[in-house]
Amino acid sequence: MAHSTTRRPHVSSRAAALRGNSLSDLLLLARERGAIDLALGIPGYPEPAGDIIEAAHEAMRSGHNQYAHPSGDLLLRERIAATLRPPADPETELTVTVGATEALCVALLSTVDPGDEVVLLDPGYEQFSAAIALSGATPRYVPLHAPDWRFDPAELAAAFSPRTRAVLLNSPANPTGRVLTRQELGQIAELAERWDTTVICDEVYSSYVFDGRDLTSVTEVPGLAERSIVVGSLSKNYAISGWRLGFLRADPARTETLRRVHEVTTLGTAAPLQIAVGLAALSADLPAAGQEMERRRDQALGIFTRMGMKITPAEGGCFLFADISPLTGGRLDSRAFAHELLDDTGVLLVPAGPCFAEPERGAQYVRIAFNRQAELLSEVERRIFGARAAGK
Ligand SMILES: Cc1ncc(COP(=O)(O)O)c(C=O)c1O
Repeated sequence: MAHSTTRRPHVSSRAAALRGNSLSDLLLLARERGAIDLALGIPGYPEPAGDIIEAAHEAMRSGHNQYAHPSGDLLLRERIAATLRPPADPETELTVTVGATEALCVALLSTVDPGDEVVLLDPGYEQFSAAIALSGATPRYVPLHAPDWRFDPAELAAAFSPRTRAVLLNSPANPTGRVLTRQELGQIAELAERWDTTVICDEVYSSYVFDGRDLTSVTEVPGLAERSIVVGSLSKNYAISGWRLGFLRADPARTETLRRVHEVTTLGTAAPLQIAVGLAALSADLPAAGQEMERRRDQALGIFTRMGMKITPAEGGCFLFADISPLTGGRLDSRAFAHELLDDTGVLLVPAGPCFAEPERGAQYVRIAFNRQAELLSEVERRIFGARAAGK
């Protein structure tokens, strides 16, 4: 194999378009230094319910160790269906996937061809652009405007064309914390109808909506419901991101196609874990977890506002999207700032460049995950203000 060392292997243009994890250098440094990670969306709160873990042990011991039904264990589908608004038909409208991550790829691969266009909001979840690249489609970004990260309806309308095959939404959103209003969804519905477009909506943070707001799912909006694919997950709401359980919700005709693609991508996720969650009946108290998450938002908001960042409170989800320019006076971009903060305090935040189509737009923003234990956030506070007192 000596000859293989000099030649780069041929890779597909789709694979070549992927940028890889933009955080790997910071994550490595953070790990070496035992830093507190407020960067990744890995839930440190809530704890997985004890009965789910016991049920997983039991499912394996009692012999559920082979393939599950490719569309997902029926009991689990029934449990998920009952949590949705309006409830879905578990037989014909739900497919269990390997997290929302697989669900997103399956939704795109089922909907778009190379050369088609996908409309999405900018800034957004980094994985969206990557999944669109993998599908071979072209992204059409609609800018969201600071400080409250809303779109301009005229700019939204201008992004649509006869090539638009899908709109990709996320509510509550990573990284902006926005929850799309019924009015905004109505504007999207009008365009989706006019251009006959599928609407894919990532609702993985559906349990975390704050300040008395109510999440409007795309399935509740006339004009969107019948053309929507919802991407959901148990990763965040139940704090089991390592179990890789997500789902797709769509009408029966779309679901047939989604299931065919899903059978090719993964053929299904871990059987005993599906059975465990089905048996444990998704017993977490989600409204209580939502209220607790709101308190974590307030705690994080207090710390980083006091530090000098300008932050519009997240309406939902698990992230604050913070403007660091009042703090840095433009002296540092967000990547340099994240390095400096890591050096001085051992706290890791995400520089927001990769969340934007044009990374320069992220130079003054960082993303802060607050789905963490309250004590950990208190330790962050001690580290930041301790370091300041020491003149760092
Ligand atoms: C908006 C959004 N969608 C999907 C995911 C991934 O979900 P899953 O663990 O179910 O693949 C994340 C993870 O951070 C996310 O922020």
